[in-house]
Amino acid sequence: MTEEIAIIPGDGIGREVVPAAVRVLDALDLGLSFVTGEAGDGTLAETGEALPDKTVSLVTNADATLFGAAGETAADVILPLRSAVGSFANVRPARAYPGVDALKPETDLVFIRENTEGVYTGIESELSAGVTTLTRVVTEDASRQIAQFGFEYADERGDRVTVAHKANVMRTTDGQFLEGVADVAEERGVEYDTALMDALAMHLVMHPDEYDVVICPNLAGDMLSDLAAGLVGGLGLLPSANIGHDNALFEPVHGTAPDIAGDGIANPAAAILSAALLLDHLGYDDAGSRVRTAVEKTLEKGPHTPDLGGNASTEDVSSAITDRL
Ligand code: NAI
Ligand code: MG
Repeated sequence: MTEEIAIIPGDGIGREVVPAAVRVLDALDLGLSFVTGEAGDGTLAETGEALPDKTVSLVTNADATLFGAAGETAADVILPLRSAVGSFANVRPARAYPGVDALKPETDLVFIRENTEGVYTGIESELSAGVTTLTRVVTEDASRQIAQFGFEYADERGDRVTVAHKANVMRTTDGQFLEGVADVAEERGVEYDTALMDALAMHLVMHPDEYDVVICPNLAGDMLSDLAAGLVGGLGLLPSANIGHDNALFEPVHGTAPDIAGDGIANPAAAILSAALLLDHLGYDDAGSRVRTAVEKTLEKGPHTPDLGGNASTEDVSSAITDRL
């Protein structure tokens, strides 16, 4: 059966790195079919809508989606798309690569971020002039679900789990989060650590090698994974997967990079590694590994884009990766 992949490049460097990743997928000759949809700032300007229904249908009907980035409309685009695929888990691996200058070359982390609630529910209001509120939602179901996913993921890798929280202050909501995790851990008979998320941020910078899989509430996962990007050489290296029960969306962690968009120098590694996660998810494990190896070799031997200290273009790097396949 031909699998259909929805391709949503979005804005800015999304339009440069996503085509590079599609080239890599194409070069594998797996017989995947691609359908392209529009979303983001450009689409808003053209059609009056940042996320047309047509694009949402493409994504819900596809077997998986590869997304680039959206600019100022990011929250109106990526949050609904993540929910359109029913994704409850956001998987963000952050590892250092030989050949890339990293602050902490020993970094090899995977953030398993709760993807549906926390402070990203959008329940905000202005009570009166100068007085605003945000409602943080944490449910037993979502906490158990992310814990189940995170422990299973760690089991497969033989890794230790750390759970980030701030239950000393957010007693009820993060208390609920920790309770969900504890229940699941007890059912599975596994041990794990917990860490206050602020202290964890410091420990991750100083001793990243002491951590493997980090299960996080939504906002903490967003922030700690960007922090880890800083440890390994920047956002150009971090892929991610948004996993649902029967659909999934893959995207680089980075945004539209307006400072370099249009220059043809964006690092395509994060998008191409996201495509590798997509292949893993669809069961093309060999192909996923081949892509990762080609990216690793290219990071080791070059060429490198300017974010990694080189002067190669997106095209140079993606050609080198495709050649290595
Ligand atoms: P950003 O990730 O776009 O850029 C941060 C810095 O990292 C910039 O200096 C950029 O040049 C660099 N960078 C990021 N990806 C790179 C790559 N592949 N190669 C080389 N350098 C790279 O984050 P920023 O500046 O906070 O946001 C810019 C726009 O992107 C905003 O409009 C924001 O809303 C949007 N955004 C969208 C996201 C999404 O669609 N999922 C996620 C994050 C931001
Ligand atoms: Mg982010």
